[in-house]
Amino acid sequence: MKKQDFWLPFSFEERRPHLLKRLLFIPKYFLEHDKFSALSIFDRSFEKSQPMAIEYCSGNGEWIIEQCKKYPKINWIAVEMRYDRARKIWLKMHNQHCFNLFVVWGEAFTFTKFYLPSNMISSIFINFPDPWPKEKHAKHRLITPSFLDQLSRVTTDKGKITFLSDDLSYAQTMSSCAEVQGGWLPRFAFPYYCPDIPQDYGSSYFQNLWQGKNRKMHFMEFQKKIGAEGFEPPTYWSQTSRASQTALCPD
Ligand SMILES: C[S@@+](CC[C@H](N)C(=O)[O-])C[C@H]1O[C@@H](n2cnc3c(N)ncnc32)[C@H](O)[C@@H]1O
Repeated sequence: MKKQDFWLPFSFEERRPHLLKRLLFIPKYFLEHDKFSALSIFDRSFEKSQPMAIEYCSGNGEWIIEQCKKYPKINWIAVEMRYDRARKIWLKMHNQHCFNLFVVWGEAFTFTKFYLPSNMISSIFINFPDPWPKEKHAKHRLITPSFLDQLSRVTTDKGKITFLSDDLSYAQTMSSCAEVQGGWLPRFAFPYYCPDIPQDYGSSYFQNLWQGKNRKMHFMEFQKKIGAEGFEPPTYWSQTSRASQTALCPD
């Protein structure tokens, strides 16, 4: 697959949701999202029916491409709103034969609210979302109680959210949104983040960038309250990964 293969067969004025070889394009400035159902898209796009995980804000896809290869028994969805980055992930997906990956080129909240069926996703990952550090820009942050409402709707019982950021204020926002929304059980004691990232978590472009500059990390995990009696690691993680996870932070 080449860069030129990533194109839309209509003009901006004719914009509409569009499927292109395991890519869903979701247009901006569009009012008819609710007329579109993505239910059968995922059924038809993946070779196998198996648990599904999403990474929001995938950037150039480094983390999710690694996960697809490491966990072939999961169907993965990468969500990225920037054209150049969505194209990068899509090209890597095809050229590296990641048949268990699907790319969404669109805005995360819109995709989740209008295109994702309920009770479908086992795990959600959000790695280094744009922090919007200035107070006046904080309204642009992806994490809000309404977004967490949507995540509760689309996740299966015992579904999980993993959030990773170098930005303290954004980690605090995640903590308070989870408290306000109320449907999520934190893995770590208040303020719910831990500076250690599990050894086999994988790595992304921004993770490498900020770790190279010795920025402190804020790693958080939440489990959907419905169906969970206490925080449980997802069943597809290896035993070693579970052991290293439980050693992370004291409650
Ligand atoms: C700081 S980068 C992190 C990229 C990647 N996760 C990493 O760790 O290298 C944040 C990415 O999120 C994307 N993004 C920000 N807000 C988004 C939203 N609401 N929906 C979809 N993508 C979003 C940006 O385009 C950008 O590529």
